[in-house]
Amino acid sequence: MFSELSTLREDPILGLMARYRGDADPRKVDLGVGVYRDPSGNTPVLECVRRAEGALLAAQTTKTYVAPAGRAEFNVAVTGLVLEDTHPAVLGRRTVTVQTPGGCGALRVGAELVRAAAPQARVWVSDPTWGNHVPLLGSSGLALQRYPYYDAATHALQFGAMIDCLQGAASGDVVLLHACCHNPTGADLSAVQWDEVISLMQRRGLIPFLDLAYLGFGAGIEADAVAVRRVLASVPEALLAVSFSKNLGLYRERVGALICVAADPARAEAVRSHVLQIGRSIYSMPPDHGAAIAAGVLGDADLRALWQRELDAMRGRITGMRALLAEQLGAAGAGDFGFLRTQRGMFSLLGATAAEVARLREEHHVYMTADGRMNLAGVMPDNAGILAAAIAAVLGSANRP
Ligand code: LMR
Repeated sequence: MFSELSTLREDPILGLMARYRGDADPRKVDLGVGVYRDPSGNTPVLECVRRAEGALLAAQTTKTYVAPAGRAEFNVAVTGLVLEDTHPAVLGRRTVTVQTPGGCGALRVGAELVRAAAPQARVWVSDPTWGNHVPLLGSSGLALQRYPYYDAATHALQFGAMIDCLQGAASGDVVLLHACCHNPTGADLSAVQWDEVISLMQRRGLIPFLDLAYLGFGAGIEADAVAVRRVLASVPEALLAVSFSKNLGLYRERVGALICVAADPARAEAVRSHVLQIGRSIYSMPPDHGAAIAAGVLGDADLRALWQRELDAMRGRITGMRALLAEQLGAAGAGDFGFLRTQRGMFSLLGATAAEVARLREEHHVYMTADGRMNLAGVMPDNAGILAAAIAAVLGSANRP
């Protein structure tokens, strides 16, 4: 049987992570996989997590199963964090929240739910989008379409083209939207643009599927949740994938949630039954350990305040490194990279070709994905100058950016 299989190409992001680890050159710089790094290059365990985990281990008396929907207090806390308890969809008992294995699990379960409810629906994803969106959503069997979003050559959002394209979506089609800190571009919609997207979805009967993987990395938890809350208050049905990989630094623990909004409480119950069955048929139940830690942080006022401070510090460091790299690139004669200052979250696109990205890796030991996506958390005060010189050497300054 297996003789029929050929070897697949490695995952573009995870394969790069392995290549970086295998590079013995001490000058290497990792702008690849989307993980936060502190100024010494570590991806730390947050102090709020360390304390919540300590309390969990001290109090835990069993490892028996929890439930197919995961930990109830986690689901309540996530809903409250993202939507607030006074959100009209919450008050109307139209929301269903289930714990999932990371944000990826939420995206996949959400896609399977769409497939069960409306197999003819197409899912519209931004061009470009996070590399794993297409396999995660497409593996459900749903047809995917792309809408224009960002031009890497000019570093500009293509909002008019996005709206024009989505006018052609059919009623019941699903539109995947990055709630904040767009991956890979760092270019988010403004409040006015979100209004226009909401109005389009209402007019065309489109279903928003929001991906919230970077809550807190844009402008802070409350500011980053505004678009999500507005979208989910404006439409009868919606999906929201939430991840705690980045903002709680719980990457390997796989902590996420799928929040579904249905038209009324009875339909919400039907949705719940399907979501649970989908989860049961793929992984049975979500892993508990990370969700128990997240619930411990979110449910304790002191730990939650500590988390906000730690998250603010992570965001502040990335913002500082964006400014530093833009400055150093200017000083190195690479051109005007001011867009790095205004974009948000971990990522921006350098605007390099795949061949230039390969040269950066092979000649300068600078790692980024082939589309030129840079994780700005990989920039350090003591590598920014070297990095800027390497980029300037490879890109030159002609016509750039
Ligand atoms: C990324 O975008 O690099 C991260 O979300 C890690 C991943 O799983 O791709």
